[in-house]
Amino acid sequence: MIVDIREILAKAREGGYAVGAFNTINLETTRAIVEAAQELKSPVIIQVTEKTMEYAGGRMIFNIIKNDVEFYAPEIPVAIHLDHGGSFEIVQRAVEIGWPSVMYDGSRKEYVDNVEMTKKVVGFCHEKGVAVQGELGNVPYLSEHKMGAVDWDKYMTDPEQAKDFVERTGVDTLAVAIGNAHGFFVEREIPDFERLEKIRSLIDIPIILHGASDWEDGKAEQAIKMGVNCFNVDTDTRMAFVNSLSTTFKSDKDPGFDVRTILGDARKAVKESVKHKMRLFGSDGKA
Ligand code: G3H
Ligand code: 13P
Ligand code: ZN
Repeated sequence: MIVDIREILAKAREGGYAVGAFNTINLETTRAIVEAAQELKSPVIIQVTEKTMEYAGGRMIFNIIKNDVEFYAPEIPVAIHLDHGGSFEIVQRAVEIGWPSVMYDGSRKEYVDNVEMTKKVVGFCHEKGVAVQGELGNVPYLSEHKMGAVDWDKYMTDPEQAKDFVERTGVDTLAVAIGNAHGFFVEREIPDFERLEKIRSLIDIPIILHGASDWEDGKAEQAIKMGVNCFNVDTDTRMAFVNSLSTTFKSDKDPGFDVRTILGDARKAVKESVKHKMRLFGSDGKA
């Protein structure tokens, strides 16, 4: 059942757990995420980036998700979300297609410009009942940039500014930077949990943590205790998909040419990685 992302996150906040927001790119990853949610009776957020809208076709990928959920998981709460919308135009396009929730990512802009643009997006979206996520601070893509030592202070969310940002823009949820990074193995070794607590005490909307593929070993649990209600996961599921393909083609066994078998295995691998995250976030059994 497609439900409002605000409802899913409000329940997570009340229940003291977090929900995974998993990026999908095609039919296979969508089926894998929906099957995982169904098997674990877990609410879930399925999200798509601009790049995927270009790759799969915005309308096509939106309808794949919607049909999948309505047909195969009518009893599971699922939200559909635009991830990292980089312009007003892409938000408009997604909303036109039917997206009920969007992120406007102005995190690389000057503060005043981020406020101004996010506010404009919120005005446009709220009139149509669409939820908006903003980002303040900056969750970097460090692995892509192959950076060595990182000056984390440059990226962190300023708690007082977060309060001001939420008040001035009217966003429904906020993505924050506390040492998290997109991709693998480049997170700040110890996240800035003090900062997270400060942010939590100053704002009263759900807090989103991007770059959660490698938030394992108690880190996710700690973040949930301190008020994170949603983790974005992409790299982990992509790796599960690619590793499965790689195993198939490196094996001594002839993989044959039934693409459905080959992609079917990749789909299973993605489903297992999503299930692992759902258990880690504590959303299993909450549907
Ligand atoms: O943070 C979002 C994604 O990991 C980047 O995904 O390659 O679809 O833009 P993309
Ligand atoms: P990872 O690829 O590090 O999991 O980050 C995903 C993300 O933040 C999507 O918005
Ligand atoms: Zn992200």
